[in-house]
Amino acid sequence: GPVLRVAVLGCGSVGSQVVRLLQEQAEDLAARVGAPVELAGVAVRRIDAPREVEVPPGLLTTDAAGLVARDDVDLVVEVIGGIEPARSLILSALEHGASVVTANKALLAEDGPTLFEAAEKAGRDLYYEAAVAGAIPILRPLRESLAGDRVTRVLGIVNGTTNFILDKMDSTGAGFTESLEEAQELGYAEADPTADVEGFDAAAKAAILASLAFHTRVTASDVYREGIADVTAADVASAADIGSVVKLLAIAELNDDAVSVRVHPAMIPRSHPLASVREAYNAVFVESQAAGQLMFYGPGAGGAPTASAVLGDLVTVARNHLAGSRGVGESAYAQRAVLPMGET
Ligand code: HSE
Repeated sequence: GPVLRVAVLGCGSVGSQVVRLLQEQAEDLAARVGAPVELAGVAVRRIDAPREVEVPPGLLTTDAAGLVARDDVDLVVEVIGGIEPARSLILSALEHGASVVTANKALLAEDGPTLFEAAEKAGRDLYYEAAVAGAIPILRPLRESLAGDRVTRVLGIVNGTTNFILDKMDSTGAGFTESLEEAQELGYAEADPTADVEGFDAAAKAAILASLAFHTRVTASDVYREGIADVTAADVASAADIGSVVKLLAIAELNDDAVSVRVHPAMIPRSHPLASVREAYNAVFVESQAAGQLMFYGPGAGGAPTASAVLGDLVTVARNHLAGSRGVGESAYAQRAVLPMGET
């Protein structure tokens, strides 16, 4: 019977866990997909770099462009991150007939439509559950499970690093720098923690959440953004005095059919479900007309949790690939005004 061959682009904290799970869960994956799913190659920057997983000899390559263009590659997992070369590699993979799974929030938030159009033209899938809130299934619920409802507001804690820092400051009185270093050691922070601390990472995720929640297109440049660099121990203490806690929130709202999206530190009462989100956990609180209030909670960062979401997408796109069908990777059905910089 057919065999599905997977190329993995990037072997960092997420990529190495994807490779590990592909090997360890090979039997279950084959049963769920309906065909064996085999590793075709792993593209890395340096062959001899230390990594968390043992890649079978001969599968490592520094030629990512060559790997995605190979005839025997059916599925491509992009976990390099950043805009280039990730964008060119994804476009090339689709053009060469592969279905794609990516965790690349920055790229989707900046240039999602280019990728969605390329996937549609190629008749292939592009799935990205891992791009927002790591292991938490939130994109599919917004795009599919809630598609018959009208979502009016999404409130998210979608950056583990900043939540870890703010939680540490709240629970121990520790300083900002010390808390950031600990988050970095635990592997939550981006390579350049500015993306976490200044809210760029959360803003990219907010744009993706808003696009799916409101079935329209929102890009990172539409999102008002303020990070946590100016939050002091005194701010955290005065929030505590009034029974509140400081969180970095991503807020996407629908007002009179116009969308506004913003990311900034906010004081929330300790009685709110989002206040109980500790350490590097993430949560997304959704309000919709018929369902009311929902909360999705879980690990939002880290190699294995993020790889869990990648593998889930991989099973879906592998099934579709075998069936010669496509899923719904995006949901931009409505033309809505996006208010500039988070105006409401
Ligand atoms: N740096 C991100 C975070 C990783 O801290 O949440 C997951 O995107």
